[in-house]
Amino acid sequence: MEENLQQTLFDFLEGDRSAAEAEEDRALQLATLEEKCRGCRLCRLRSGCTQVVFADGSPNARLMLVGEGPGAEEDRLGLPFVGAAGKLLDRILEAAGLKRSELYIANVVKCRPPGNRLPAADEVAHCLPYLKEQIRLVNPQLIVCLGALATRTLIGGSASVTRMRGRWYEIGGRRYMPTFHPAALLRDSSKKRPAWEDFKEIARCYKEICGGG
Ligand code: URA
Repeated sequence: MEENLQQTLFDFLEGDRSAAEAEEDRALQLATLEEKCRGCRLCRLRSGCTQVVFADGSPNARLMLVGEGPGAEEDRLGLPFVGAAGKLLDRILEAAGLKRSELYIANVVKCRPPGNRLPAADEVAHCLPYLKEQIRLVNPQLIVCLGALATRTLIGGSASVTRMRGRWYEIGGRRYMPTFHPAALLRDSSKKRPAWEDFKEIARCYKEICGGG
């Protein structure tokens, strides 16, 4: 009996230790990937931007948000979604009960396209392996595609975000939800209500996964 109890306690602590080791290993691999990404010169974007904007948030996140590419403020500060669209995103996350620090936030391209133009197809192609590796390492169950570029890049298809949004798409064991880019909400306030519906569903699903309801 005593021995059984000891074994249970040992297994319990051992489980904790290997989980902590796995987290450490993940953070290390992400740091290595970030370093590689910072040295990347595969496309023209790097020569026109200030710095590489790799990601923000937790390497152990169960929910990942993917945007398009850094804007001026992100380029200046080195973090994704810290400009006007980011501030709106922060408000939406807070209203939905999601903590930004628990999530992982990245973009399809890591270098700011000049004048905030859409990243070109070859720029996306060069940068995509970094995003794919971020997804593999962080291993989130849920991925939110913010806007058309992230939706097309990660889910595919040619339908608009308006048509695709609000539903989960199961791909490779993960669930992807397209929704409007926060910058689109700033331009067109009629998109705010549907975006809010999407985030309520995202938060519901996230809390279910995390055992919070
Ligand atoms: N828009 C994006 O798509 N990503 C950012 O990081 C900021 C604005």
